[in-house]
Amino acid sequence: MKAHNKKAYLLVYGCQMNVSDAERMAGELASIGYARTDEMQAADLILINTCCVRESAEDRVYGKIGEIKHLKRKNPRLIFGITGCMAQKEGDALIARAPHIDFVLGTSKVHELKNIVQEIESERGLGAGTAGGAAIATATRDKHGRFVDVNLTETELPDGGPVVREGKLSAWIPIMYGCNNFCTYCIVPYVRGRERSRRPEDVVDEVREAVAQGYKEVTLLGQNVNSYGKDHKLADFADLLKMVDEVPGIERVRFMTSHPKDLSDKLIETITSGKHICEHIHLPVQYGSDKILSAMHRIYTVDSYRALVRRIRAAIPDVALTTDLIVGFPGETDEDFAQMLDFLREIRYDSAYTFIYSKRSGTPAAKMEDQVPDAQKHERLEKLMAVQNEISREINDELLGTVQEIMVEGPSKNDDAMWSGRTRTNKLVIFPHDAEQPGDFVNVKITHPQTWVLKGQRVF
Ligand code: SAH
Ligand code: SF4
Ligand code: F3S
Repeated sequence: MKAHNKKAYLLVYGCQMNVSDAERMAGELASIGYARTDEMQAADLILINTCCVRESAEDRVYGKIGEIKHLKRKNPRLIFGITGCMAQKEGDALIARAPHIDFVLGTSKVHELKNIVQEIESERGLGAGTAGGAAIATATRDKHGRFVDVNLTETELPDGGPVVREGKLSAWIPIMYGCNNFCTYCIVPYVRGRERSRRPEDVVDEVREAVAQGYKEVTLLGQNVNSYGKDHKLADFADLLKMVDEVPGIERVRFMTSHPKDLSDKLIETITSGKHICEHIHLPVQYGSDKILSAMHRIYTVDSYRALVRRIRAAIPDVALTTDLIVGFPGETDEDFAQMLDFLREIRYDSAYTFIYSKRSGTPAAKMEDQVPDAQKHERLEKLMAVQNEISREINDELLGTVQEIMVEGPSKNDDAMWSGRTRTNKLVIFPHDAEQPGDFVNVKITHPQTWVLKGQRVF
């Protein structure tokens, strides 16, 4: 067998769940001799792990697929596959559009990857191929002979396989897959299937293993972590978080995403009493008017969300709250939008991801009347961002002169002479390089707060 000299280039779009899935794909590929490379040109295998949450995400993928056509012409042995949410959504339509794709694998098929790649290798006379030439891939082939498997199997969990993580200090740990919420704008439930939770001991084992390998921080991942365990009832999310907090050697525990409709008081109490659970809750509100929240099928109201935030802040005084916001949802009026801005000024999030509503065919909102014109969506996004940026800046300004505990992550992206790291509240901090090493916990006094980053000096 050609041992470990083959190279795989994995391009990952979308959310942390996709990043985590790609780490499992990298694990599968490593087991058949592929090391991950950062150079697309040098790769023997290219995989795009795709996202389809907004049209812009899909457009980017189509652009990349086009680019790879040239590489494939130069090197016909190059293996090229599409995985992830867009693979799930489009299936063999992707191959019809781009026949240089060798395989398309859906979101629940990570464990199939190794078999399919081996089968293609053996067809092309590359590497070891399948043992004895036996067909082991269970994916069906399309009329051009390409593998396509987008069967959404919701019974098996992709547990237990090898993982090659991107980071050295911080590990993504999926705790559940899928989503049951069907927010009317969102494609995720259709491409990820129904919620299914990993067993608590499997999650805890993975955390233990990560700690043993030197990881200091874990982020527990799910589309709505608050509904963890509603299927198997072995533990709820608060129970799981407590178990992870108690893993010896863990320094920081994070989690995302929390759906506001079922963040329990028990969870708030668990965060308060936990030792390593970070004071940051990503609590996407999506919108700030009851009319739009109801049309989005978000279940909560402005009032119930407000009450939740009050409970959280009373229990965890230094908590950082972040959110996702969508402008331009069908039926949004100037009045709705004004309410949304008022709501932002009232809640005062530390930061927000802001999106323009993107019509996803097959979702209920795509068929709603009163779609908002593009120009108006853009105008509202600008206003929204301006309001939020001002708030983020004001909140960060309040940190001037305070001392924050930072985990050193590595050199700052823009300046090698600076270290970058994060506070427990997940704020990015940069400070001048000294003898510290990545993974060290240091105290930094904030001297120059900005909107997106806090600059400081180490104190002893
Ligand atoms: N499960 C998470 C995140 C899902 S996708 C949650 O519920 O918060 C991440 C974000 O993308 C969502 O929070 C939402 O703000 C945004 N999003 C989802 N579908 C969208 C669409 N059709 N158009 C614009 N933004 C969308
Ligand atoms: Fe999409 Fe809503 Fe599920 Fe989040 S909770 S993934 S926004 S359907
Ligand atoms: Fe995108 Fe799929 Fe995540 S659609 S946001 S990669 S779950």
